[in-house]
Amino acid sequence: MGSIADLLARPLCDLRISVTDRCNLRCGYCMPREVFGTDFAFLERSELLSFEEIERIARLAAGEGVRRIRLTGGEPLLRRGLPRLVAMLARIEGIEDLALTTNGTLLSAHARELAEAGLHRVTVSLDALEQDVFSAMSDTRLPVGRVLAGIDAAHAAGLRPVKVNMVVRRGVNDHCILEMAEHFRGRPEVLRFIEYMDVGESNGWRLEQVVPASEILAAIAARWPLRELPATRHGEVASRWAYSDGAGEIGLIHSVTQPFCSGCTRARLSADGRLYTCLFASSGHDLRALLRAGASDAQLAAHLREIWIGRADRYSALRGATARTSRGARVEMSYIGG
Ligand code: GTP
Ligand code: 5AD
Ligand code: SF4
Ligand code: SF4
Repeated sequence: MGSIADLLARPLCDLRISVTDRCNLRCGYCMPREVFGTDFAFLERSELLSFEEIERIARLAAGEGVRRIRLTGGEPLLRRGLPRLVAMLARIEGIEDLALTTNGTLLSAHARELAEAGLHRVTVSLDALEQDVFSAMSDTRLPVGRVLAGIDAAHAAGLRPVKVNMVVRRGVNDHCILEMAEHFRGRPEVLRFIEYMDVGESNGWRLEQVVPASEILAAIAARWPLRELPATRHGEVASRWAYSDGAGEIGLIHSVTQPFCSGCTRARLSADGRLYTCLFASSGHDLRALLRAGASDAQLAAHLREIWIGRADRYSALRGATARTSRGARVEMSYIGG
């Protein structure tokens, strides 16, 4: 099984697969209700890749070096029958890590069957513990207790380590940083603080709303001393920190202030079968058309190689220098999968 490198010598190691562009929450930084309202045109069922089509692309990508697969959305648990896809992906030779990023609201009901199907671990998005702040961040009336129950169910089902992603927005939930840290200290979950990113076109991102990871780190370290841990692998997006008193670890994802493009080994497959070589891309490569036109495995694999070999994306590293590019509208995170 080969390993191919792009124009910046980065190998292809990870495939992030979005299985739906729909979500039952409306986080303002991802799917603001003003844009993703009742008349928003989500993908039709016939436009979605079937599980067989997804498995085929994932298997060929594994042949080109992919070792880790992450299922995303939208909210991936809204895709009916997901455990069947998990079972198909878990059988692919060469896949060492099979994970899922979810908002956790539907996780209690599904954790066990996902684990039984072969899922290794989950990452749950949770931006606050206080109900009012959670509701404001995710624009929902669902109780935050449902997400906490989902986290517990995932842990109990063996989907470990459970990671918890907190996107921090200045003036909205930045006052919850210490409370979140305190809650997850001493628990088995790894809490990760994420800098709010300018993904897509609809979240009205402004730099002032970004709380730099260095500021988050300083606030936590002032209360509970921390020491840095080595990365678990090349290209990991989070820096890792351990509480000196042994109460576990946290992570910081500084995608805005300290971009990690030089180690970016990720390709993204949208729910309608387009392959994107960057989270901030404005266009993808239509693999569905090839699949449905009857392309052979060899033709598809050659196309995957060609796409990766021609890749030069490093949007975050260039963000400061170029501000906006003129390449057209960037795709939304709910479509491409975080
Ligand atoms: P682990 O394997 O557990 O480390 O997962 P992960 O951190 O790669 O994935 P997750 O879905 O938890 O994403 C965490 C945050 O990092 C989200 O805000 C993602 O949008 C962001 N992220 C993940 N990959 C990339 C990337 O390639 N570029 C940028 N800019 N952000 C990314
Ligand atoms: N900036 C940073 N992280 C984001 N996510 C969604 N939108 C953004 C954004 N604009 C996070 C979600 C999820 C992960 C996949 O990406 O909260 O945890
Ligand atoms: Fe849904 Fe996740 Fe986007 Fe929130 S961040 S709207 S939970 S897909
Ligand atoms: Fe990779 Fe693009 Fe993110 Fe840079 S901005 S780390 S190239 S996905």
